[in-house]
Amino acid sequence: MENEQKKEVVFSAIQPSGSITLGNYLGALRNWVKMQDEYNCIYALADLHTITVRQDPKQMRKNILDAYASLLACGIDVEKSIFFIQSHVHTHAEMSWLLSCYTQFGELSRMTQFKDKSAKHADNINAGLFTYPVLMAGDILLYQADKVPVGADQKQHIEITRNIAERFNGLYGNVFKIPEGFIPKNGARVMSLQDPTKKMSKSDENANGCVHLLDPPEVIMKKFKRAITDSEACVRYAEGKDGVNNLMAIYSAVTGLSYEQIEHDFDGKGYGDFKTAVGEAVVETLRPIQEKYNQYISDKAYLEECYRKADEIALKISSRTLGKAMKKVGFVL
Ligand code: TRP
Repeated sequence: MENEQKKEVVFSAIQPSGSITLGNYLGALRNWVKMQDEYNCIYALADLHTITVRQDPKQMRKNILDAYASLLACGIDVEKSIFFIQSHVHTHAEMSWLLSCYTQFGELSRMTQFKDKSAKHADNINAGLFTYPVLMAGDILLYQADKVPVGADQKQHIEITRNIAERFNGLYGNVFKIPEGFIPKNGARVMSLQDPTKKMSKSDENANGCVHLLDPPEVIMKKFKRAITDSEACVRYAEGKDGVNNLMAIYSAVTGLSYEQIEHDFDGKGYGDFKTAVGEAVVETLRPIQEKYNQYISDKAYLEECYRKADEIALKISSRTLGKAMKKVGFVL
């Protein structure tokens, strides 16, 4: 128990906006699973964040449950970690309002993700898209998180979270722990199989660029066989060989083999053999996850039991921080 108290708090969240990808798994989720033993981990499905982009209600409900079951299947363990659904814990929306009054229009205007997303969804540049980083800051600060594992694209959001927290603490004393973002070094950065200069993404225009956690084996094999490579026909990691480098990164991530070993093993072999090997290794990695997903998704009562329990604990923890912050500001509690 004493040990428990000394463990640092890790907080992270993922948007349940469509199926989880191989990139999400190798880049982030696998690390979330690993951190469960070393840290007090709190993980959320950031469903409030997803409505900054228009969602189909029926599909959204399905996506949320699918994502919850998928993360359990990946190894998020509700006995070790708190894994809750953001919208079920009302303190998040409340903290977001509070913090938005301590966040400047100018700093939100500088967020590169806002600029990118408003260019992409020019017909729906809503205020939520603009204040998205404030909601995220609240997520993190509510749990007094020490560490926040995120992808490189979220770095700026961690920076603004720290700025907001420091500003608030500067006015009212030590209310929030200043969190540190960290981009896990052993997390593979998985790129699109069709355009290996871009991150693998479910919004890839070319469906073959993105492998989903729940893709059937034959679909996974097809996507790897069609992966973009180069004309050198030599399996080696080198500048300018983005496609092959990406396949090597994926292969290394799922087999644990070093690049050197991979180069050695595929010396003299063509890309066809290599792509087949990568595809098969990915299929084998995902097979047990898919089996577990199928079990979880067919037991909605169990899923509900898991998230209700976690929601309740999350509410308890986060209410403490929200109450403290509101009191400092001057609300009568
Ligand atoms: N914005 C993050 C993403 O799209 C998801 C997220 C929401 C998050 N709240 C968070 C990540 C808090 C880390 C911490 O990837």
